[in-house]
Amino acid sequence: MSTPTPSDLDTVKARISEQIAASETLAALDAVRVAALGKKGEISLMMRGLGKMSADEKKVMGPALNGLKTELSGQIETRKAELEARALDAALASETMDMSLPVGRPTGTLHPVSQVMEEMAVIFSDMGFSVAEGPDIEDDFHNFTALNFPPGHPARDMHDTFFLNDGERVLRTHTSPVQIRTMMSKSPPIRIIAPGRTYRSDSDQTHTPMFHQVEGLVIGRDIHMGHLKGVLMDFVSAFFETDVDVRFRPHHFPFTEPSAEMDVRYTRDGDSIKIGAGDSWMEILGCGMVHPNVLEACNLDPEEYQGFAFGMGVDRLAMLKYGMPDLRDMFAGDPRWLAHYGFSPLLQASLESGLS
Ligand code: PHE
Repeated sequence: MSTPTPSDLDTVKARISEQIAASETLAALDAVRVAALGKKGEISLMMRGLGKMSADEKKVMGPALNGLKTELSGQIETRKAELEARALDAALASETMDMSLPVGRPTGTLHPVSQVMEEMAVIFSDMGFSVAEGPDIEDDFHNFTALNFPPGHPARDMHDTFFLNDGERVLRTHTSPVQIRTMMSKSPPIRIIAPGRTYRSDSDQTHTPMFHQVEGLVIGRDIHMGHLKGVLMDFVSAFFETDVDVRFRPHHFPFTEPSAEMDVRYTRDGDSIKIGAGDSWMEILGCGMVHPNVLEACNLDPEEYQGFAFGMGVDRLAMLKYGMPDLRDMFAGDPRWLAHYGFSPLLQASLESGLS
């Protein structure tokens, strides 16, 4: 091969530029790149030939070859960007969805627990609450200590706690740790609900080792028990879609003071339960004013801020509202049960059109 001259390079450049422009796919373009600039590519071989040239030739051909290499690399990059943009446009054009198509009949149903959580979120968001979340796997601090269960406190044992193998972490026994996480990460005013799974080592007709709670927390200035009662009474009437008679009974929780349980009036009519009338009372939630020790554990000054909290069992409320006799059926995963008790996934709970 005779030594190339700068004018030879012009011919090479014109040819390769043409190939670049003619590449219609990324693969074709890459083949052009390899043939020109790859390890054994045309330009690379010419550069290797510089070693055999005289000093004068080198002075001319060295910069010329480098310039050619830079120029072609630039052209390849530009063409690559064009082809990529074209591929994206084509993908976007072919992946459109016709939103006017009918969806047909959905085969699945919404689990009653999901439905009830949805209903609760609708009711509480109308009252200005937002939804907060926390992890199912908790540490001792959030699940117990910060909630005013000191180490060794007997109320810890009543929680039938599942411990992880490290002996430190637990499956949360209630949604109350979300109170702590919220107070530590946000400043008042706070108005949240926290729906989620909770776990206790317990199983019979009215207990399952995994169950669901919705926690509520309100923190602000001059919050008192009247606010707590008003919110919960409004909630049950909206939830059961009828006037519900409630009563508050004194109770004890380490993290609230005073504490109460709220019962709803009901009567049994054969197998079914009627809420709102009758002489029997059913407990549906625990509540109270947030204990000063809990506020302090979250760096809030109890002289400045007060608040209330509540926690209710979602599964039990679902059973009451939709007349399911056995809690365990809820988590058995039997499609016949779901077909019977499930809800249409296309109907959204709303206060205007009805919750269910
Ligand atoms: N965490 C309590 C329980 O699981 C319920 C509760 C929540 C009580 C908030 C008072 C305030 O039993």
